[in-house]
Amino acid sequence: MWPKDVGIKAMELYFPAQYVDQEELEKFDGVSAGKYTIGLGQSRMGFCTDREDINSLCLTVVSRLMERYRVKPEDIGRLEVGTETILDKSKSVKSVLMQLFEPSGSTDIEGVDSTNACYGGTAALFNAVSWVESSAWDGRLAIVVAADNAVYAKGSARPTGGAGAIAMLVGPNAPLVLDQGLRSSCMRHAYDFYKPDLRSEYPIVDGKLSIQCYLSALDTCYTRYTDKAKRKNNATISLKSFDAMLFHSPYCKLVQKSFARLALVDFLNLPKAEASKKFPELAAFANVKLEETYFDRDVEKAFLAASKGDFEEKTKPSLLIANQVGNMYTPSVYSGLVSLLISKPIDALAGSKVGVFSYGSGLASSMYSISISRDVSRDSELVKIMTNLERVKRELEAREQLSPAEYTRILDVREKNCHAAPYEPKESVENMFPGTYYLNKVDELNRRTYKRVLS
Ligand code: ACO
Repeated sequence: MWPKDVGIKAMELYFPAQYVDQEELEKFDGVSAGKYTIGLGQSRMGFCTDREDINSLCLTVVSRLMERYRVKPEDIGRLEVGTETILDKSKSVKSVLMQLFEPSGSTDIEGVDSTNACYGGTAALFNAVSWVESSAWDGRLAIVVAADNAVYAKGSARPTGGAGAIAMLVGPNAPLVLDQGLRSSCMRHAYDFYKPDLRSEYPIVDGKLSIQCYLSALDTCYTRYTDKAKRKNNATISLKSFDAMLFHSPYCKLVQKSFARLALVDFLNLPKAEASKKFPELAAFANVKLEETYFDRDVEKAFLAASKGDFEEKTKPSLLIANQVGNMYTPSVYSGLVSLLISKPIDALAGSKVGVFSYGSGLASSMYSISISRDVSRDSELVKIMTNLERVKRELEAREQLSPAEYTRILDVREKNCHAAPYEPKESVENMFPGTYYLNKVDELNRRTYKRVLS
């Protein structure tokens, strides 16, 4: 017998306390006005100074989750981290997080790190859910952390950076349930985005190929998800089946195009005569082949227009944090879930079906769905999550805006020192959010120690 309704029981989000404005960055970079803000759909980009690294991001978000939801170390039997920000080829970030558990004697905690570009958080979440549903489960809860510092070398990819961390408490009787038996994946070998230089934080990225890989993985996952739903429940899946659709968001414009792509797949899934009758304005596309349309402007334009209303209803609400912080890599799709949860009153969300597409270059991708509980009673876990996340909008506004010149200087500092040892970070900790962990120093043996801003 499986434990009932396994899924996400609590969520916490952290992003750095400073950002650069994308309109200012357009001017600073000398690109045409609107390229980052309209062309990519980004407004602000969060970034870390040399005071934050992957360990500090995760320490901050996990301690905040435990404090805000009153989770005790002994309640946790599994802790998983998904990240592509690698500081050490052997020692996991998870082992660093054990500093939060050891003082109370809790060391019986399974799990280590999962890495594959922006997909690691989903791999970690699936592992945690599987553990709760397995014979190894001992009744305790799991914590899943997805965190990254997403930075690119100077050039066209730089405005698609970001940074942040999400922690999720996983267990039975959850208000955000991962639907059983309805999960599809597409995993392939591609060099679209990868990080072979272990001394650098920057990836090698083939922008155009990465978009093509993302869209083709989306097509495949959606088609497989709909096939599985047909086989399992004899259900015909289309965008109508979802109240909300979440995507990994490298930049918001790609998400809008991805939504339009699913509308295209739905259209091609209809019998041809029905499709042309129902959507005469799209009839010219009845015979297109998905794999020939990744960069077809006519197809893109037609389906962006046809799906605009549904996009605004089902996906736009999930893009607030992606638009304001940028691509956080592994947490990106989960920041979509947080954005959705803070976008509407609880009654509008209760009972919703949410589709999720997670993508990591290289490549690994999955589609699954979440059912949101109908329990809106005052002390329900859904109410607790939504109440806790209420502060996110205020925190987004409470961040400090730094100039593009200052942003560039800080990235240069990081670039120069990201694997330096010994190293003492120099940037200020003055404006960090209360309760943030920060890097104190790296000693001559590369051992890192952290301090915490008072809560
Ligand atoms: N006003 C409005 N729109 C504009 C303007 C302007 N002044 N100037 C350009 N644009 C539009 C372009 O037409 C283009 O739109 P389109 O995508 O509909 O064609 C868009 O802005 C971007 O402009 P490009 O010239 O295509 O941008 P560029 O090639 O310089 O870089 C890219 C874009 C490839 C996404 C780059 O930022 C990148 O490599 N990012 C990292 C890789 C990435 O995020 N890949 C996605 C999946 S993999 C992952 O998650 C990491």
